[in-house]
Amino acid sequence: MKILLVGEGAREHAIADALTRSTYNPRIFAVMKLKNPGIARICENTGGNVKLGDSTDPVFVASLAEQLSVDFVFIGPEEPQFRGVADEVEERGIPCIGAKRGPSEIEMSKAFMRRLMWKYKIPGRLRFMAFKDIDEAIAYIEEYAESIALKPARQAGGKGVKVIADLQAYLKKEKEEVKKKHVRSIVEEHMRPYTDIEDRILIEQKVEGPEYTLQCFTDGRVVKPLPLVQDNKNAYEMDIGPETGGMGSISGPGEVLPFISEEEYKESVEIVSQTVRAIEKEVGEAYKGVIAGQMMLTALWGPTIIEFYSRFGDPEAVNVLPLLETDLVEVSEAIISQSLNKVKLEFRDSATVVKCVAPRGYPNRRDLAKGHPIVIEEDKITKEGGRVFYGSIDLSNGEMVTGGSRAVEIFAEAETIPAASKIAEKCVSFVFLKDGWKLFHRSDIGTESLLNERVEIAELIREIYRYRREKELIGKQIDWLPGKGRIEYEF
Ligand SMILES: Nc1ncnc2c1ncn2[C@@H]1O[C@H](COP(=O)(O)OP(=O)(O)O)[C@@H](O)[C@H]1O
Ligand SMILES: [Mg+2]
Repeated sequence: MKILLVGEGAREHAIADALTRSTYNPRIFAVMKLKNPGIARICENTGGNVKLGDSTDPVFVASLAEQLSVDFVFIGPEEPQFRGVADEVEERGIPCIGAKRGPSEIEMSKAFMRRLMWKYKIPGRLRFMAFKDIDEAIAYIEEYAESIALKPARQAGGKGVKVIADLQAYLKKEKEEVKKKHVRSIVEEHMRPYTDIEDRILIEQKVEGPEYTLQCFTDGRVVKPLPLVQDNKNAYEMDIGPETGGMGSISGPGEVLPFISEEEYKESVEIVSQTVRAIEKEVGEAYKGVIAGQMMLTALWGPTIIEFYSRFGDPEAVNVLPLLETDLVEVSEAIISQSLNKVKLEFRDSATVVKCVAPRGYPNRRDLAKGHPIVIEEDKITKEGGRVFYGSIDLSNGEMVTGGSRAVEIFAEAETIPAASKIAEKCVSFVFLKDGWKLFHRSDIGTESLLNERVEIAELIREIYRYRREKELIGKQIDWLPGKGRIEYEF
């Protein structure tokens, strides 16, 4: 059996690693922009190889799949999906794990996603407005907007989202100026490279609460959830610093997180299931691959959708794929033949922590973070009980050099999250740069104190949303207008 893997990060390394555990002993081939040392090693060990090139180019990837006559293609990242790699691969008669262009719109267009959730009345939706031009968005802000999230209407590589609380009347004008300025920067900066979508700006109501990710396999008919993961987006400890692609994540033990209940987990799965069905109705094509809800526990709904991924999260994939006990080739084949209902997904019952290690300069000055020779003492990490998943590292010229993004993700597994965090923390010290440039990571991820903080916030939120449910206020907004009395809006 031969498989072609698309993508070059730690997420794809985790996918490749899970595929190698299959009883089918597949030969792994990979197509990627940088030569990821972890994936390259797996390819070599299984009798496959690596092809460097534009992994988002449909014709390039599909031709390679054809040449190699692989049994199926597995796409890791979102951009190849948005550009139609899955469509081109399937057109040539090769099955593909990864959303086609149409279904991947659930991630690519945040406006499409919000419209879909409203049209099909899927729980966990937020009020929103999408705009095609700056002036309309600014007029709306002047007239109505209060506490809002301002976003590029397209997935823009995790950049350009600004959440603005607007509570103090005496700051109203100042906040308005910030909002207007940001709308301009969304259009002129963040959305500039993208011509594949008409909507430019998304304005959403602001919500609050702990965030988590629910990743699922789907064949378009059923969804099979993986254990919940929580990622930490801010660059530095205490959730401060710029937003990154994720600095590290936690999971378990079991399928829930310490601050998300079994019931909330089930409701989250229901939201993703309803969405998968709605996508097929809307775009006329089954969703085959991986879908993930990036969720928040809010006072408004309980489980609420912030955005969808049409793939695994990175680092979230690295928490749970190493725990997968079911054969990933079997899962893939069940997705292809739409018989996922027959597969039982099983995971080792551990808690996990993933810590991402990035060169200084990431995320805002990747030029500075790039090009440093890196040493990873993998044997010492293994001895401590950790595992290395290679991220943005290039081995093209025979030496491992940083690519400018998160270089390594360290995975650790234990009975509790804090215990796994301690292992990961020790392992991080075995990664360094030869030229003296500094690396950074977040030492607080998975610690008892950060966990307790999340548990406390979740408890507060839970009290409010449960009260709202009791009073049947979910999905409703109630205003009191002088002279008219109580006005109820459904949503
Ligand atoms: N409606 C919202 N209310 C409050 N916070 C939000 C909202 N939307 C996004 N956020 C915050 O901003 C972050 C980034 O937004 P997201 O839609 O996930 O965009 P990105 O593509 O940058 O990941 C979220 O992880 C969340 O913390
Ligand atoms: Mg996000």
